[in-house]
Amino acid sequence: MKQIVLTIFSLLIMNTISAQNKTLVAYFSATGTTKNVATELAAVANADLHEIKPAQAYTKADLDWHNKQSRSSVEMADKSSRPAITDKLANISDYQMVYVGFPIWWYTAPTIVNTFFESYDFKGKTVYLFATSGGSTIDKAVSDLQAAYPGINIKSGRLLNFASKKELQEFCGK
Ligand SMILES: Cc1cc2nc3c(=O)[nH]c(=O)nc-3n(C[C@H](O)[C@H](O)[C@H](O)COP(=O)(O)O)c2cc1C
Repeated sequence: MKQIVLTIFSLLIMNTISAQNKTLVAYFSATGTTKNVATELAAVANADLHEIKPAQAYTKADLDWHNKQSRSSVEMADKSSRPAITDKLANISDYQMVYVGFPIWWYTAPTIVNTFFESYDFKGKTVYLFATSGGSTIDKAVSDLQAAYPGINIKSGRLLNFASKKELQEFCGK
């Protein structure tokens, strides 16, 4: 009897420890490119995958960067814009390591990424950023987000345009 109780107790402790050591790949993707990379990264990193889903999906017209009045142009010109997110994560406390991916918009992260960082408690978590783009680097997105959230441990970021499995493995240390 004593042994059974001890076994159950240690299984419970192991479960709690592993629940807090899980890895999350969270991504925003308007046209699918970042989603593909995020899906591959989650598989390689043995991580859970979560979409940062806008309450209102972006239409083609919304994404027209030639039009100063388009939704994306208006949002990106307004640093305080925080597009609403649907599909909230119930269990952020389970994750120790969080990869956050997004497309580069106007050389930085879309403002919905700010909404994401402001929606959860990231205390004690390690965050790595990744992005896809038409050619711009991720550097400005990393420095902008690090400056906006000094209390969050945002380590660095990597552009993962056309990333091979080997590059993804290297990125997440697997
Ligand atoms: C509104 C908007 C702004 C963009 N700005 C940039 C940019 O500054 N630099 C760049 O290289 N690509 C830019 N792009 C291209 C996207 O970063 C690129 O196509 C990305 O891979 C799209 O990812 P997604 O399919 O996950 O949405 C922009 C795209 C949109 C829609």
